[in-house]
Amino acid sequence: MWLMAVSLPLLPAFIMVLRRYRVKAAALCHGALAWALRLVRWRVCVRSTHAFVFSQCTHGKADSVLETFDLYADTHPSLCISPQIGQAVDEVIRHICPQRVLELGMHCGYTSIRLLRLLPPAGRLITVELDPFTADLGEEIILVAGFKHSQFRVLTCSSAEAIPTLRPFLEPDQGTSKGLDLVLMDHDPQQYLPDLLALEREELLRPSGCSLLLVHRNPRAQDLKEILDHIRVRADCFCIKAELRSMTEIFYQKGSTDR
Ligand SMILES: C[S@@+](CC[C@H](N)C(=O)[O-])C[C@H]1O[C@@H](n2cnc3c(N)ncnc32)[C@H](O)[C@@H]1O
Repeated sequence: MWLMAVSLPLLPAFIMVLRRYRVKAAALCHGALAWALRLVRWRVCVRSTHAFVFSQCTHGKADSVLETFDLYADTHPSLCISPQIGQAVDEVIRHICPQRVLELGMHCGYTSIRLLRLLPPAGRLITVELDPFTADLGEEIILVAGFKHSQFRVLTCSSAEAIPTLRPFLEPDQGTSKGLDLVLMDHDPQQYLPDLLALEREELLRPSGCSLLLVHRNPRAQDLKEILDHIRVRADCFCIKAELRSMTEIFYQKGSTDR
């Protein structure tokens, strides 16, 4: 009651401000509503993927979890990489046998499981997911696939926040090298170049060789062009190894043109 009494005299001023800025206010409300709807739709999609995989796969069997993800994607919209891109990722992992892997954009854990199942016994995965709801469900699916927290770590934050904190995870154990051997980017293409620059600045890429896999759903996107331009200019450190329709493989080696 007292609130009404206090706010009533302010009502004419409020109406005046609203009239004056009604176009901006409407645009603001519209933007907020669209964002909220996108978030709800996103979470429904994540929940539905998780529920399907959790209930249909054989727990403890990574290949069954992957097949169930693929089955889901046959009949539902899905953000997971396609099995074809998955096979290309598998080939890279088999070829380089990475010890330290960073994934940016974990989503429901599909690529994380693809990576984890081919890592050598001492191999470790750090995976980053911005959305806490998605990160929780994705982490559960990785555990369902039979992997343990000693093999992977989920960081629930943006890639920009995660990268400067990675150094302690990359200190060499016995027989492992310093730095990342493989980075898979499938998060926000606008972040690909800033994140690559941050990884270099923090000296997190293994100087003797690190593969970078850039997943792109729109090969003509400006963001992809920007990172590829950067890589071409930095020919002393980077080279493009393979350009597929939805993925580009880049190789980094500090200060060497002898590749
Ligand atoms: C296309 S999905 C990744 C799909 C995943 N690679 C797979 O195939 O299973 C992109 C994910 O990146 C997350 N994301 C977007 N921007 C991010 C950022 N800046 N840092 C970390 N994660 C981000 C999104 O929340 C989303 O879950």
